[in-house]
Amino acid sequence: MQPTEFNADNNSSSSDIAGTSRRKFIGAAAATAAAVNLPISACAQVAGSDELKLALIGCGGRGSGAADQALTSGGTRLVAMADAFSDRLEPALSTLQAKHGSKVDVPDNRKFLGLEAYKEAVQQADVVLLTTPPGFRPMMFQAAVEAGKHIFMEKPVATDSPGIRTVFEYAKKAEEKNLKVVVGLQRRYQKSYIAAKEQVKQGLIGDIIAAQCYWNNAGIWLVDRKPEWSEMYYQVKNWYHFTWVGGDHILEQHIHNIDVINWFMDDQHPVSAQGMGGRELRTDRKTGQIFDHHYVEFVYPNGVIMNSQCRHQPECWNAVKEVIIGSKGTLFIDDSGGAIIRDRAGKTIWRYRRQDQDGNPYQNEHDELYKAIRDNKPLNNAHYGATSTFTAMLGRYATYSGKQVNWDEALAWNNSELPEKLDFATPTRFGPDANGLYPVALPGKFDPATSKYA
Ligand SMILES: NC(=O)c1ccc[n+]([C@@H]2O[C@H](COP(=O)([O-])OP(=O)(O)OC[C@H]3O[C@@H](n4cnc5c(N)ncnc54)[C@H](O)[C@@H]3O)[C@@H](O)[C@H]2O)c1
Repeated sequence: MQPTEFNADNNSSSSDIAGTSRRKFIGAAAATAAAVNLPISACAQVAGSDELKLALIGCGGRGSGAADQALTSGGTRLVAMADAFSDRLEPALSTLQAKHGSKVDVPDNRKFLGLEAYKEAVQQADVVLLTTPPGFRPMMFQAAVEAGKHIFMEKPVATDSPGIRTVFEYAKKAEEKNLKVVVGLQRRYQKSYIAAKEQVKQGLIGDIIAAQCYWNNAGIWLVDRKPEWSEMYYQVKNWYHFTWVGGDHILEQHIHNIDVINWFMDDQHPVSAQGMGGRELRTDRKTGQIFDHHYVEFVYPNGVIMNSQCRHQPECWNAVKEVIIGSKGTLFIDDSGGAIIRDRAGKTIWRYRRQDQDGNPYQNEHDELYKAIRDNKPLNNAHYGATSTFTAMLGRYATYSGKQVNWDEALAWNNSELPEKLDFATPTRFGPDANGLYPVALPGKFDPATSKYA
């Protein structure tokens, strides 16, 4: 089953933090999202036109959502779409046409199919929306920066160390070229998080002593293999379950919570990590390679520890949230739109309740991107997007290997599991054994520096 919601990550547990219903929030916020029609500045990429041309690359659940938000922002037109598969591109196109009419202008000659379809799509637009599985993100980000395009790209931004080095390198180049880049870590565009960050900055919780973050829920979709599919075709269709293309759920989803802790630590990143994890319920051949639970201790340069846990197991305790413990108080926050700070005695000393004007963070991030392009103001999330991606990846290296891993060492590893060529006939690096089972990392045996499994 494929995800059908535009914002498939958005499945946190409800809690008392919100003080209001989350479902109501998403509906109300989407309904009130304001269209912006701002004057065009002298920005090179948009000069001479009042309209920003968009290319959507990766037309699945999130891509459809991102294109919807980009078109809702106003002054934009979708002119090109690319996907590995036409059975993903066409439904996305129909849905967007039904909602946005003539703002969707994608004739057959601007539809691009295949794993390298991005190369042509990038050329068609002023702004590219990169919403494929994350294993492809570094090459697509590189191509977009080289072509001088503004970028919205989803998290995570890579799945291995060489990929993240590419993103760090092109993040700098994007800045040099005055390109605007937004990364889909939308909590950074959510008013409750922004307000809480301000309180922490002003010292309401004192010095940060420790942090905890969680993405525990029942799990994710699976795609059944069809006999006519090549191994590559199957792995890309079922991408969430293969590490080279999906990154594992500590990276794929839990990155949101890890990013919040990095952000509240003033965008420092951990220097080392150690942890444990495994697959207790993911034993079926369909479930590829990824773990169903990870628990990691990350250590920041000042000794602060972030405890991170993520689990994909049904009928267990669920939570998607962050807790930041300070010398004077503790912040409790999740993506419901609310936040609470309690003092050391447990008394609530600050509370944020969601308000209608807070908007939808998925919309806010797009509105800010197009505003920055038009006003020609600096905006580049790629640095923190790459930092938080690599933090989560460091956690995966720790749980897969069962060893302590260090940031600087791990960043230098040449451990890519990407296939040599991107087409459906090329063999994947790792395939199924005679029983249809894929290699899975065994703690104590797996070498994350080389991706050697046993
Ligand atoms: N910020 C959020 O809350 C949020 C929510 C959901 C998903 N996401 C992110 O968005 C990305 C996509 O997730 P999704 O849920 O939309 O998955 P999805 O499977 O619904 O969509 C991915 C699309 O990319 C296509 N694709 C695969 N390889 C491609 C290639 N080489 N070139 C072009 N297209 C290719 C697939 O066919 C599919 O249509 C992931 O990185 C995910 O983490 C973010």
